[in-house]
Amino acid sequence: MTAAGEARGDAPNGEALVGGTVNAGAVFRQGSVVDRPAPRTAPALHTHLRALRRHGFEGAPLPVRLTSDGREQLTFVPGEVALPPFPSWALTEPALASVGKLLRRLHEASAAVPVDTRADWPRDLADPEGGTLLCHNDVCPDNVVFRDGRAVTLIDFDLAAPGRPLWDVAMAARYWIPMLDPASAAALYPGGPLDVPLRLRVLADSYGLSARERVELPHVVEQATEVCRSFVAARVAEGDTVYRRMLAERGGWDRWARIQRWLTRERRTFTAVLQP
Ligand SMILES: Nc1ncnc2c1ncn2[C@@H]1O[C@H](COP(=O)(O)OP(=O)(O)OP(=O)(O)O)[C@@H](O)[C@H]1O
Ligand SMILES: [Mg+2]
Repeated sequence: MTAAGEARGDAPNGEALVGGTVNAGAVFRQGSVVDRPAPRTAPALHTHLRALRRHGFEGAPLPVRLTSDGREQLTFVPGEVALPPFPSWALTEPALASVGKLLRRLHEASAAVPVDTRADWPRDLADPEGGTLLCHNDVCPDNVVFRDGRAVTLIDFDLAAPGRPLWDVAMAARYWIPMLDPASAAALYPGGPLDVPLRLRVLADSYGLSARERVELPHVVEQATEVCRSFVAARVAEGDTVYRRMLAERGGWDRWARIQRWLTRERRTFTAVLQP
């Protein structure tokens, strides 16, 4: 188990926080504040996060300020963040249901906040079909703070972009079910095999997916998987050493092909279990 905010090393910038990949080694805690590289959309994102709070959503950090050297400061959220290999406390059904409910509350608040259409929202993990709601797009365990076994806060909105709410549910499903073939899942979720159909149902029910979204979800998970694969391919092509190492350690492109074959093969099972 990893406590978010635990000291990871002494640095002049504060305590280094581990858990991220993109900004590994560049995220620091300074007391009640987290100091990290600002995404290019930070001005629009900060406005959005403040508006979410005004609409009663407390499940995201509050922006504190942008610094002159291209960094941003946000409130530090006390709690625990699950890092791979994912611990069993993050994989209980109540934990999963709490993620579904938190995402629902994010979307309800987000629906009330118009997206800044002038911002250059990143396409990296964005819904290829677009949409009107600002989605988080990266609801992986490393980006969710838990307290007492329940998800309380989503962090790291760097890849937020407009999309369908269902896109965020599909992205969350990839990590939290997880939507991985058994061999791929065993490597990252060592606590024993997880009941994928049952967990899909828990996520759908806790989020409150509509009948139509339930029909669409298995296909959208396949779309999201393709987008994630392209994301990794782009990082690897750029020569990103962290993504190169991660890809090699986890089984290379064969693993991605295996996951995609498994999703296609199991599509009917997922569709059936999701029906209301
Ligand atoms: N506001 C916060 N409150 C508490 N913990 C935080 C906060 N921001 C970041 N952390 C901790 O620091 C870790 C890394 O932060 P962050 O997600 O910003 O890094 P990243 O490299 O941008 O991540 P990713 O690879 O998902 O893009 C998180 O997993 C979490 O443990
Ligand atoms: Mg992160």
